[in-house]
Amino acid sequence: MDVFEAMGTARAMRFFKPDPVPQELLDKVLWAATRASSPNNTQCWDFVVVTDAAVRKQLGDLFKPFADRVASMPVPDNAVDRRTLAGAKNLGENMGNFPCIIFVCGHNVYPPGAPRETFMYSAVYAASQNLVVAARALGLGAAFTTLHGVFEADIRRILRIPDDVFIGTTIPLGYPDGPTGPVSRRDVADVVHYDGW
Ligand SMILES: Cc1cc2nc3c(=O)[nH]c(=O)nc-3n(C[C@H](O)[C@H](O)[C@H](O)COP(=O)(O)O)c2cc1C
Repeated sequence: MDVFEAMGTARAMRFFKPDPVPQELLDKVLWAATRASSPNNTQCWDFVVVTDAAVRKQLGDLFKPFADRVASMPVPDNAVDRRTLAGAKNLGENMGNFPCIIFVCGHNVYPPGAPRETFMYSAVYAASQNLVVAARALGLGAAFTTLHGVFEADIRRILRIPDDVFIGTTIPLGYPDGPTGPVSRRDVADVVHYDGW
């Protein structure tokens, strides 16, 4: 699959088979993530990759109440939102059963002397998007999420994340257990302005 097809079909995948991600593929995905751009090439990121079953279970137990919260939400009118909600519920229910969860972490270091979190997140998000697209290119699925926000203190404790390190994204990764296909986005012509607005 070429890079354009991967970008065009890298849907947020929220359903995964239990099969482990081969280390060779995981290495490639992480390589791609670490090729992203960052402010002044600070590469102000670290990746906590969880594959150990016991650690996944601890994390999975944390996420379960999130599934209950999603289940209690009103059912949306349109099919896309219904699918997203079903996906969110599955993330909560099964996070611990997914073969791999990657936490893309950031260091708030740029610019030196007056660091701004926006710069840190720009790097973390660029790395996360590279990761998601690379996963798709390799036949894997991934979901770019910020779900750690709900249980951040517990996640930090379980994964021993240092106090001065931010968690930027939480990305479950594995073989997709759901349909893939083109992402739905606005037309290029609607958002591109040549030579002025
Ligand atoms: C900064 C950011 C945060 C996101 N957080 C979540 C999240 O917490 N949970 C989730 O299921 N998806 C999350 N997403 C994924 C988007 O909801 C998803 O990409 C978007 O709805 C488009 O769907 P698609 O990628 O399948 O086309 C996030 C995406 C971004 C860029």
